[in-house]
Order: sequence, then C-alpha cells, then structure tokens
Amino acid sequence: MNTLTKMALGLLGQIKPHPAVGYAASTIHLPTANTTGGLPLMQAMMQRQSQREFETTPLPEQVLSDLLWVAAGINRPDVNGCTTPSAMNAQEIQVYVALPSGLYRYAAPTHTMHLVTATDVRRVTGYQDFVDDAPLDLIYVADHARMKLIPASQRESYASAAVGAMAQNVYLYCASANLATVIRAWFDRTALSQAMELGNDQQVLLSQTVGMPKKTKLSS
Ligand SMILES: Cc1cc2nc3c(=O)[nH]c(=O)nc-3n(C[C@H](O)[C@H](O)[C@H](O)COP(=O)(O)O)c2cc1C
Repeated sequence: MNTLTKMALGLLGQIKPHPAVGYAASTIHLPTANTTGGLPLMQAMMQRQSQREFETTPLPEQVLSDLLWVAAGINRPDVNGCTTPSAMNAQEIQVYVALPSGLYRYAAPTHTMHLVTATDVRRVTGYQDFVDDAPLDLIYVADHARMKLIPASQRESYASAAVGAMAQNVYLYCASANLATVIRAWFDRTALSQAMELGNDQQVLLSQTVGMPKKTKLSS
C-alpha cells in the first residue's frame, strides 16, 4: 500500500493488520546464536547505512537468531548481562518481531520467540510502503513497568537511549551479514499499539526493517 493511502487510512483510524500468511507456532525455539566470525568491527562501521529496498525472501532461522541476539540477547548469563546497555540494567525494551505469519515477542533468557497475535502487522509498522513486504520488522517497545526505580520524567529518554544502542547493534550486524536495514520512527503509534495489543505500561518507540537487500538488475 502506498504512503498516501496509508496516511489517509491513518486519519480515519483504519490502518489494520493483514491476515497472517503461513503457520505460526506458539513458541519458536531459536538456534543458538552464532557468536563468532563476521566482519571486523571497523569494516562493519564502514558499511553501516540505511537501506530501503528489500527482497521479500524470508530470513533463515539462524539469521533471525543472530539478529535478535545482537539486538537484545544475553551475552553474560552469570550477571544477566545483555548485548545492549540499559539504565540500572532494567532491560526495559521488549523486542517484537513482525513476520508474515504473526507477531512475536523475543524472550532473551530462553532465546525464544512467543506468538502475540497470529496476524501480519508489518504494514502497520510504518507509513513507507516497503514495510508491507520486507520479511520482518522489529518493533522496540518500552515496558514502563520495568522502570519503577527510574524517575518518571527520565523513563522515556533512558528507554530511547537503549533502543538507539539496539538499533545500532542491528545496523552493524546487518553490515556484517550483507543485510539491509533501516530504523524508523514514522508510523501511526495508535494503530500500531492497537495492532500489537499492547498494555497500558507499554510504549512503542521505534521500528526497524530488516531483509536481504533488493537485487538490482545488474546484480541479479
Ligand atoms: C530516530 C530516527 C528515526 C528515523 N526514522 C526514519 C523513518 O521513519 N523512515 C526512514 O526511512 N528512515 C528513518 N530514519 C533513518 C534516517 O533517515 C537515516 O539514518 C539518515 O537518513 C542517515 O542515513 P544513514 O543511516 O544511511 O547514514 C530514522 C533515523 C533515526 C535515528
């Protein structure tokens, strides 16, 4: 759906998810993340960029595993340490994954994904048309219930800082794995919160599309 149509539907409160495509398991046990190899950090930094053209091909489960681990995985289980920082280690950011088969929430301690709703919410994650068909959109949600020890006036900025770190981890992983990605703030927050069935303590902050880069005629 093009951007103008989405904006018009948004004004009418009518940006809705699509029916799911394919089977949605209630729990997806991800393979262990591959924590070796990849591009050297400085080379990945040289490649980091936003891209907005994606193949529709689904990402392999191993790639999904690595992606979620770099975004929000546990890297030091002895201290419940995460790949990204959070104020007071509150780990308040919940990472959702919008797939054609359904919307999932990532659980870092078990490295699993849990089905939230068996609908395709990808088109609700942004006004831009590529989000409808790219294989997945990550959605970063702040869980205010986990920030009780942080002054209320600071919660949103702290959570936003944590999402920034997650998004950059994902950018660097994508640079290393030859994937395309873009972090996004331009979406209908009410429509997306409804589509995701979020509770009162949950606040959508940003979304990030990931997929294989669209092949140009020359590269195909
Ligand atoms: C908070 C934030 C929100 C953004 N929102 C969008 C967005 O809604 N759509 C989009 O296409 N890009 C979005 N971007 C990506 C920027 O447009 C992009 O990072 C910028 O143009 C620089 O390009 P680069 O990432 O390739 O260096 C956003 C970036 C940030 C940090």
